[in-house]
Amino acid sequence: MTEDAKPARLLAGELWWKAGIVYQVYPRSFQDTNGDGVGDLKGVTARLDYLAWLGVDAVWLSPVCRSPMADYGYDVSDYCDIDPLFGTLADFDALVAEAHRRRLRVIMDFVPNHTSQDHPWFREARASRDNPKRDWYIWRDPGPDGGPPNNWISNFGGPAWTLDPASGQYYYHAFLREQPDLNWRNPQVRAAMMDVLRFWLDRGVDGFRVDVIWHLMKDEGLRDNPVNPDYVAGEPEINSLVQLHSADQPEVMQVIAEMRAVLEEYDARVLIGEIYLPLERLVAYYGVDLSGAHLPFNFQLIQTPWHAPALARLIEEYEAALPEGGWPNWVLGNHDQPRIAARVGDAQARVAAVLLLTLRGTPTLYYGDEIGLGRVPIPPERVRDPWEHNEPGRGRDPERTPMQWQPGPQAGFSTVEPWLPLDPQAQTRNVEVLRDEPGSILTLHRRLIALRREHPALSVGDYRPVSVDGDVLVYERRHADETIRVALNFGHGDCKVDADIAVAQPEGAREGWEVLLSSAGGRRGERPLGGHFALAGDEALVLIRRAAAAQG
Ligand code: GLC
Ligand code: CA
Repeated sequence: MTEDAKPARLLAGELWWKAGIVYQVYPRSFQDTNGDGVGDLKGVTARLDYLAWLGVDAVWLSPVCRSPMADYGYDVSDYCDIDPLFGTLADFDALVAEAHRRRLRVIMDFVPNHTSQDHPWFREARASRDNPKRDWYIWRDPGPDGGPPNNWISNFGGPAWTLDPASGQYYYHAFLREQPDLNWRNPQVRAAMMDVLRFWLDRGVDGFRVDVIWHLMKDEGLRDNPVNPDYVAGEPEINSLVQLHSADQPEVMQVIAEMRAVLEEYDARVLIGEIYLPLERLVAYYGVDLSGAHLPFNFQLIQTPWHAPALARLIEEYEAALPEGGWPNWVLGNHDQPRIAARVGDAQARVAAVLLLTLRGTPTLYYGDEIGLGRVPIPPERVRDPWEHNEPGRGRDPERTPMQWQPGPQAGFSTVEPWLPLDPQAQTRNVEVLRDEPGSILTLHRRLIALRREHPALSVGDYRPVSVDGDVLVYERRHADETIRVALNFGHGDCKVDADIAVAQPEGAREGWEVLLSSAGGRRGERPLGGHFALAGDEALVLIRRAAAAQG
């Protein structure tokens, strides 16, 4: 890979999702404007100025379509309408227009694997065995013992099949029984769903995050999944079987290519796929000749132990696994995963922010992580996530709590008690308080985002590993004649980083590193002392190579 091969390949139209930063909004929890304790579209629109101030490029909205909310919008009953809880189609159009006015793109969540049981398609399908919509879902006769047709398990625990007593057949659901899986082998289903994409693309949506995209195709024979010999009791029940036949089937690539082809009918739209698979399978979702997802979500930072050597190995393996021309991406959290601050602690959450925003690849930032939200305690009577009821301890409510905007009642999120509790520290951990603190995690995010925008090396430059030494990981990003070096301390102890310029200098030339940013705040413009920079525990430094004044 030559130094500027990658940037040269960037097409103007794609640049927004390659060089840009995606910000995920969980609409129920961003901003309530009508006093019902639940966030809404007008609320997102009202907060666009904040997102522009923060400096992100795109907003991904978790589902806002019509839904009975059994899985909080991931159970859609009308793909072409907005749920009244969130507002109207007119509110959505206004959001898109206002976002575009601020040069912010809008990415929708598309949930094609399953519908709600209340979707008219499923109501019809369920009406009788010979209904024309019957084959839009996955129906089978009971197994020989009268039980489910195979051993597949729901991702939320329990059987993945529910008996429909009226017809005597079972239907398949990879998630809740309220979320029947569509039959993507049926061409009518495909056509109907491609029209859904066009419906939103025509309204100006800039792309989609496709929910559980690796699940769309199942083994045609619906064979039993093998037992997982490595299963450890206490893990989610879904892990007790290897998902060999229920997901990640080769035929799914064709479906994704079809979605991609629809997007190609429009200008510069992005296709992001939710994929929880090991690296070598994940990268297959770029598709043959990059005909698949532009960005198969890379969740490896969520799953890798938070240690310098493990993270260094991950980055290298990911970079090596990418297909030619495939653009990388990185994520620290989302509405399904414990928040980064809950996983690694407040101090390391700052290091994590530097990592996310200086790695090569599109970063997706989860709302609230920029103010350092952690695991918000949820009292038993306030549990909302159905998964928590099925498998206690697995619930995702602690990472879905309201955004905290200002001191005062409900932290500015609502005028009434919100649908999920606020963080007990909401009076101090909020945007209004943190935005003026030079050392706050919010200020750190904003600076990092600005830095990424200012320095193409950080957004589109090459990645080069430099060293892993104990708890400290060092890498470089390069573009044209700009070189940026990032040093991250994943430990709590103080240490030093080498400030040598590895490249031989022509006679007389003097170059050196200079601090652009420290995760701890301050230090900007600092030069090395005795060939080193001091690096405190839990600190990360971003350095730039400058044709330099005298070295210390
Ligand atoms: C995805 C969503 C998750 C949802 C599930 C079923 O993993 O991110 O929130 O429960 O799909 O749609
Ligand atoms: Ca509301």
